[in-house]
Amino acid sequence: LTAALTALTLSVSASAVAAACDDGEIVIKFSHVTNTDRHPKGIAASLLQTRVNEEMNGKACMEVFPNSTLYNDDQVLEALLQGDVQLAAPSLSKFEQFTKVFRIFDLPFMFKNIDAVDAFQNSETGQAMKESMTRRGLLGLAFWHNGMKQMSANKALNSPSDASGLKFRVQNSDVLKAQMAALGGSPQPMAFSEVYGALQTGVVDGQENTWSNIYGQKFFEVQDGITETNHGIIDYMLVTSTDWWDALDADVRDQLATIISEVTEARNAESTAVNEQAKAAIIEAGGVVRQLDDATRAEWVSVMKPVWDQFKDDVGQENIDAAQAINA
Ligand code: LMR
Repeated sequence: LTAALTALTLSVSASAVAAACDDGEIVIKFSHVTNTDRHPKGIAASLLQTRVNEEMNGKACMEVFPNSTLYNDDQVLEALLQGDVQLAAPSLSKFEQFTKVFRIFDLPFMFKNIDAVDAFQNSETGQAMKESMTRRGLLGLAFWHNGMKQMSANKALNSPSDASGLKFRVQNSDVLKAQMAALGGSPQPMAFSEVYGALQTGVVDGQENTWSNIYGQKFFEVQDGITETNHGIIDYMLVTSTDWWDALDADVRDQLATIISEVTEARNAESTAVNEQAKAAIIEAGGVVRQLDDATRAEWVSVMKPVWDQFKDDVGQENIDAAQAINA
């Protein structure tokens, strides 16, 4: 008990220290929805917080609110625009109300791995996407990687027909709704923080997400198993409000931008490894992981890929061609 109390006291005082900003410091609140360990975004956000608080002490102070403790992704962009938080990193699927070009990132089997996503984002088209929402008051500072999505359900998913008739939680994205409909499933958009409960109570039968999210939210505990489909991606944009960013003193803005770009480079390089560790931890904890042979995976591709046609005008055929050239 004494040890537990000491640990509690330590953790309470640690978070109190992290939250204590000095007078005169610019307060940077960063709200996100995932867990903090064994998670590419959680680790990157914590590293950003540590570096800003060490290197910009006296000038700026960062407070990270993980696990949807402050806002969920449907609320956070509005909160940014209102000045209630200064940084967020929603998945790219969450920007579709601002710009339809981002739909390319949700199209199934568009990118063969995260290196291909990285190369696309570093192209001229990808870099321009960071500034595509400035008229709406949002500025992208960096792309942050998570990883490839896998499918899970309350029954074994081997061939795509196993998904037919099931209710799948999706992020609120028209592409993802169309993808689940192509499988004969029923898409149910809901906030990330509600997914575990919805799977547990049978409100939905299945979901798609990365290893780190399936591990971090413990989805594997309330699913029959996870099928390694690698059918899509979850990636993020670290985003701020143009008003807030433009109002910073140039030296503060430059120092923050440099730290962000160093953290981005360091953590993006580790995102695939972090997801592999989460996958291993799922198996270690008794989660079932199913592999697809090449012929069966080709069936999933042939059922889901026709969704591209519905969205090619939104994302631009030239962008699809550019993404495919990177995959080759
Ligand atoms: C989801 O809603 O499933 C993800 O976007 C959560 C996240 O931030 O990884």
